[in-house]
Amino acid sequence: MARTLPDILRCDWPVEETTPPPATAQALERAAAILRHGGLVAIPTETVYGLAADALDAEAVAGIFRAKGRPASNPLIVHVSDAAMARSLAASWPAAAAAIAARFWPGPVTVVVPRGPRIPDIVTAGGPTVALRCPDHRLARRLIETAGTPLAAPSANRSEAVSPTTAHHVLAGLGDRVALILDGGPCGQGIESTVVDCTTVPPRILRPGPLSRAAIEAVVGGSVEWLAAADSGTDHAVRSPGQQPRHYAPRTPLELSAEAARRGAELLDSGSRVGLVTTAVDDPATRALASRRELVVVPMPNDPAAYARLLYATLHALDQRALDRIVVATPPDTEAWQAVRDRLVRAATPPL
Ligand code: TXA
Ligand code: MG
Repeated sequence: MARTLPDILRCDWPVEETTPPPATAQALERAAAILRHGGLVAIPTETVYGLAADALDAEAVAGIFRAKGRPASNPLIVHVSDAAMARSLAASWPAAAAAIAARFWPGPVTVVVPRGPRIPDIVTAGGPTVALRCPDHRLARRLIETAGTPLAAPSANRSEAVSPTTAHHVLAGLGDRVALILDGGPCGQGIESTVVDCTTVPPRILRPGPLSRAAIEAVVGGSVEWLAAADSGTDHAVRSPGQQPRHYAPRTPLELSAEAARRGAELLDSGSRVGLVTTAVDDPATRALASRRELVVVPMPNDPAAYARLLYATLHALDQRALDRIVVATPPDTEAWQAVRDRLVRAATPPL
């Protein structure tokens, strides 16, 4: 394993500058050198922080699985600096992947395509497909270019735990297992990319994310299906091995409630310390709890994208508060909230 504590390098890069300032360029050089030598670097993306290794180096990728405690059956996303690099890693480039990449890359969407021969087995968990994504984050793309290789990068958290949206979340979760963390500030999207299987016609969404089904349908010119957790039979497990029932979970037990304030009151009455995550802060039922000392109320935005941006940071913060329970008000059952609901339902699933 790496060392006791990693270096966190702040990587400023003003939007109006096309090249990074010297300190950031130096940090990228250092990160690239670690990656070229088979090491691990935590990197910012627009979705969540990733734990990166050279995707073409099977030994290096094995380090990712060890650091995360990730089952070898769960394949990784390979990050590329542009669509040309993606195509060079695919055995073929389905029309849906081409359309999605052309319209939405760089961006928070991953395409699953037939795997080319350069990708080691360990990256795809031995499967015939590879997941590819071009992140909408200049530091990530510049690092890929500087290292001269695509980067395998899952979210930079222990397996099943809450994904990191700041460098400090990475430090808290994997600090003893990574040599270097590039700090690019808080992630803009806050939840993981939409994953689209482009090896089937029509394509299928394996994981809901920031990019909506409607947006994908508009560019692929037809319907796109959900591979819903509900049909999680064998086919589901094979198609989307990473979508375990429990995932994204804080250490504090979390539950979803359609009547969160009432449920919060009940838990408080039984002597629990409670974190209440809700968009309904002005509801009388929530207000009635305002004076309860054993309660932390976290007001959340009513807009799903804004909610997603804050979700993991909220869970990380509540995990620091020594609470007995986190109660989250169930978001609306609409497609706009699907990605947030997916994360919350998994976070609320108890450990085996
Ligand atoms: O936004 C993101 O996608 C972040 C950032 C770091 O890019 N990455 C991320 O990686 O969320 P990870 O490893 O936490 O999730 C990858 C998901 C898993 O559900 C995995 O099973 C699925 O993608 N996946 C990877 N390769 C696949 C493949 N060949 N076929 C089907 N699913 C695949
Ligand atoms: Mg993950």
